[in-house]
Amino acid sequence: MKILVTGGTGFIGSHTVVELISAGHEVEILDNLSNSKESVLDAISKLTGVSPKFYKADILDKARLTEIFSGTKYDVVIHFAGLKAVAESVEQPLKYYENNVEGTINLLNAMLNTGVDNIIFSSSATVYGDPGVTAYTEDLPTGQNITSPYGKTKYMIEEILKDIAMSKPEFSATILRYFNPVGAHPSGFIGEDPNGRPNNLMPIIMKVAQGEYPELSIYGDDYPTSDGTCIRDYIHVVDLAKGHLAALQHIKPGISVYNLGSGKGTSVLEMVAAFEKASGKKLPYKIVGRRTGDLPEMHAIPEKAFRELGWKTELTIDDAMRDTINYLRALA
Ligand code: UD1
Repeated sequence: MKILVTGGTGFIGSHTVVELISAGHEVEILDNLSNSKESVLDAISKLTGVSPKFYKADILDKARLTEIFSGTKYDVVIHFAGLKAVAESVEQPLKYYENNVEGTINLLNAMLNTGVDNIIFSSSATVYGDPGVTAYTEDLPTGQNITSPYGKTKYMIEEILKDIAMSKPEFSATILRYFNPVGAHPSGFIGEDPNGRPNNLMPIIMKVAQGEYPELSIYGDDYPTSDGTCIRDYIHVVDLAKGHLAALQHIKPGISVYNLGSGKGTSVLEMVAAFEKASGKKLPYKIVGRRTGDLPEMHAIPEKAFRELGWKTELTIDDAMRDTINYLRALA
């Protein structure tokens, strides 16, 4: 298939591009490089032997989108491009609504104007807000008590996709709700390398390991969990990338929603222990107060993705830590 991947040089996008090319698909990448580096394109070429066509472009630039879509007839768009820093979204909500919601509307217009009916969209478990349970199935209500504008943009985009599907029977949107992506490609060529100060646990652990930050601050050890720290469902980015490939093979008209997670919960302290085991070094940390908006515990029930897409995670937290450390060595 001929696929346009927006955000294809980012963390999840780049791993997905590698899987798509390896499976024989023809990929083009659109990215504004706001949170990634152009050198990722070289890494993709080295890994796959293919240099995908690259558009340095912004989804806010309607004229550019029109130009790109008029040049090629895509079968599918896989849409990763978006801002994702939760704290920044609280401080600058309009930036998030503009980039994520308006940007996606521009992309959808460019698609529909050129007869491209299929989209796979990067959503997040954050759309469930605070559902009052710890094990998440796709049929839980969404949109209630979402604590950040970032999370609300994901929810709003899902709703927009549903409305288009109502108006256009041939339209197909596959909504993938990611849990917590971690790890790196086992080659060490690509991984998570955000520009600026990271917010998420794994990139912060990486900065501590590199000596850039003195220690990890663990946000609370007084939660009602086994060791008092929060529990999340961490998923290896290569497994996540393969989830997109599975989704691509099962595109059908209408809206399809899948949780992409491992189904297992891991605490922050367990993540620290796994990193220490893989690196053979102590990771300095201190316990600080809770972070506003954090839920004590959540994990995916990924059965629907297994049943309908034949996809499940194959890699473990230990694999993710090994690959992260390998990637850190390659960066150094
Ligand atoms: C966060 C967002 C979520 C978003 C996801 C991916 C919130 C409330 N949720 O999920 O909307 O989809 O990132 O971008 O922000 N932790 C520490 N110390 C740190 C950093 C994190 O203890 O320095 C803990 C957190 O309390 C949490 C766990 O590590 O328990 C994972 O945090 P993080 O990586 O930020 O992911 P989420 O909070 O699950």
